[in-house]
Amino acid sequence: MSLIEIKDLNIHYPIRSGFFNRITDYVYAVDGINFDIEEGETYGLIGESGSGKSTTGKAIVGLEKVTSGQIMYNGEDVTNKHNRKQMKYNKDVQMIFQDSMSSLNPRKRIEDIIAEPIRNFEEMTDNEERTRVKELLDIVGMPSDAMYKYPHEFSGGQRQRIGVARAVATHPKLIIADEPVSALDLSVQAQVLNFMKHIQREYNISYLFISHDLGVVKHMCRNLAIMHRGRLVEVGTRDDIYNHPQHIYTKRLLAAIPKVNPSGREKDKANRRAVEKEYQEHQSKWYDKDGKVFPLQQISATHSVALPPDEVAELKSEVG
Ligand SMILES: Nc1ncnc2c1ncn2[C@@H]1O[C@H](COP(=O)(O)OP(=O)(O)OP(=O)(O)O)[C@@H](O)[C@H]1O
Ligand SMILES: [Mg+2]
Repeated sequence: MSLIEIKDLNIHYPIRSGFFNRITDYVYAVDGINFDIEEGETYGLIGESGSGKSTTGKAIVGLEKVTSGQIMYNGEDVTNKHNRKQMKYNKDVQMIFQDSMSSLNPRKRIEDIIAEPIRNFEEMTDNEERTRVKELLDIVGMPSDAMYKYPHEFSGGQRQRIGVARAVATHPKLIIADEPVSALDLSVQAQVLNFMKHIQREYNISYLFISHDLGVVKHMCRNLAIMHRGRLVEVGTRDDIYNHPQHIYTKRLLAAIPKVNPSGREKDKANRRAVEKEYQEHQSKWYDKDGKVFPLQQISATHSVALPPDEVAELKSEVG
């Protein structure tokens, strides 16, 4: 049994228009996705802007209303609020938000921000609580006098670390990390990623690591799901995705990773152009007649890809 199982999750937002403000259509932000996260693992959810990553993450922590489908935690259904409460789910599953400036209350001191989940879920004296907040600041490499300050007194990287401190305050089992380092410069990115790994080992935390950049998550994730237009286009292990990508969308994301080595740049550019050409020339191969991504089809024990059935049969005969 996995720690978290996402089963046929759908989140559709109604679009209202006209004089009577009737529902005329829906945004299919999340359109029938499935994946499992194991205890202690980092699972990557990757896709470009608007693909539905944050909506998925927020639904898992209970901040977004699920249209249909199920979220299972340790085998129990936590899709509805009542069950989440009974399972202590909201203590066990925390989120690091994409935008640290708007997710940290500007009128609250850091002490109160970090202590908020502790106050919600644990009984502690003021002294115990203060000690815990200092410990947490120390874990994320911040001085303890940071607790008396306000969010605007910190840089983006520092605020993101405060977000991490708050997320780990109640010793969660799973953290939804929504682009935790995307707003930071490269040197700080590495710092934040390193201590995320460090606390993961220390407390056996699972992460759902959300990113638009396959380069950033390469060394974090054991398994990844590639999201596009509310659906998953490819799911597999790190080796499947980075070394044997099958869907053009995955290949495009891989081609977009900036390379450090200047000698390979010309080759990179050529590769990027070739991938782009393949995508443009065979549009119909990648989407069904309504422009939707095909259902996922399994091509090996760990690897699934969203291609039309005949393409998959061909692939399988090559692989197997
Ligand atoms: N409250 C809402 N009402 C209507 N549409 C919404 C709402 N929230 C999100 N959407 C739409 O759902 C889609 C998915 O949004 P989401 O924020 O999940 O994308 P994302 O993958 O996190 O993108 P980014 O990388 O930019 O953060 C988008 O098309 C967005 O416009
Ligand atoms: Mg997002």
